[in-house]
Amino acid sequence: MITRRRLLGVAGASGVLATAPSLFDIAFAADGYINITAGPAKAKLINANTADSDLWLYDNSTPGPEIRATVGDRIKVRLINNLEEPTSIHWHGLRIANDMDGVSGLTQEPVMPGEQFEYDFVVPDAGTFWYHAHNKSWSQVARGLYGPLIVDEKKPTFDKDHDLTLVIDDWRVKNDGSFDVESLGNLMDWSHGGRLGNWLTVNGESRPTLELKRGEAYRLRLINAANARILDLDPNRFGAKVLAYDGQPVEDVTAPLYAPMLLGPAQRLDLVVIPEEDFALEELSGDQPFEFAYFQIKDGASTGEPVRYPRPNPLPEPELDKAKVFEIDMTGGAMGRFTETVYKGQVLSNEDMRRTGQIWAFNGVANLADDPAFTVQHGETIVLAVKNDTAFAHAMHVHGHHFRVIERSGSTVDDGKPWRDTFLIGPDQLVKIAFVADNPGKWLFHCHMLEHAAAGMNTWFQVG
Ligand code: C2O
Ligand code: CU
Repeated sequence: MITRRRLLGVAGASGVLATAPSLFDIAFAADGYINITAGPAKAKLINANTADSDLWLYDNSTPGPEIRATVGDRIKVRLINNLEEPTSIHWHGLRIANDMDGVSGLTQEPVMPGEQFEYDFVVPDAGTFWYHAHNKSWSQVARGLYGPLIVDEKKPTFDKDHDLTLVIDDWRVKNDGSFDVESLGNLMDWSHGGRLGNWLTVNGESRPTLELKRGEAYRLRLINAANARILDLDPNRFGAKVLAYDGQPVEDVTAPLYAPMLLGPAQRLDLVVIPEEDFALEELSGDQPFEFAYFQIKDGASTGEPVRYPRPNPLPEPELDKAKVFEIDMTGGAMGRFTETVYKGQVLSNEDMRRTGQIWAFNGVANLADDPAFTVQHGETIVLAVKNDTAFAHAMHVHGHHFRVIERSGSTVDDGKPWRDTFLIGPDQLVKIAFVADNPGKWLFHCHMLEHAAAGMNTWFQVG
């Protein structure tokens, strides 16, 4: 198993000093579309002296180009597929029309090699979002097919010098520092904690150093693009406060933060920090803190202006007294209790499980069935009571909606029932979430540990 030690084991690399890691410029076509090409590319993940990695990237960059819009904008993206396999793009966390959700095989046909697909949608919420491949995601996202999507408020709360996007990924690299392609699809990963890496990058760079100005307020937008790694962070160490979870502003920015703060795969965390001295972003799950980004503080010219916080987005408030409750029992995986599992209408034998790679299930069903797991009426309040009957943690994502986390193992949630699009659930935990099903269509509910989703933790529901 990949351990913490291996994460620390790769020879250290010092990052390039930069104000902000470079994000590539967006290419607009004459017709107003942003052209994004998915294709094979070479990149160096550790430093200039390590071997080239064979990645799959959007516009040859890791992460892909930052798409930046203002709330209410219409975004038009033309995906050009230069890969040798089909793909599609999912706009993670955006509450957009179902036919633009980008799920191959559910909301659209996958885009074949050499073909194109036009996405066209209006962004309803300001916040930190991201986009990523949604066909064989366990492989395509691991190889680098993702990028940030930031939606500014009508009047941005921070100017662009004080608003930094930090896309964090956890790569599995070989001894020569190149991306480990051969271990993709390893069933050991699928049945355990997913594909964990041994090297973290921030905006594609190893341990970058960023320059900030003393006494000035910054918004740090953290995006966890890893397949399976839960990042263990403590913003208290550098006096930061939480502005938003998964793109949705918190009610009280001044609320105390309980460490460790976990950032699961696909989750986002917006922090506000007013630095006084140098600090680092550290991953704290190992014996020693692992520093993955460093902030150097230079003299600034604080204007003394009060910090402006983002305002809540117009999310429909769940009506709990009228809610329809659905229970989801998560089972399977290594060390899991044995339960009978149905896949494509057939009860799986042990032999079938090995052959199909289906080892996890929701309510005894592995992966997408022809019929939805549940059907709800447009506008109904839904409570999902999710019980983790497995030996692993999971990062559960609802497509097309944001929800409030209302209960965690029988106790009410103390941090103001935050809005999220992805929640973490530990072994034996029960988590209840609530949302208004206000977006008609076929929506996925799946684990964002992408190996778990591929191996069965994937289902869908119908709205309207
Ligand atoms: Cu971010 Cu179904 O995914
Ligand atoms: Cu999982």
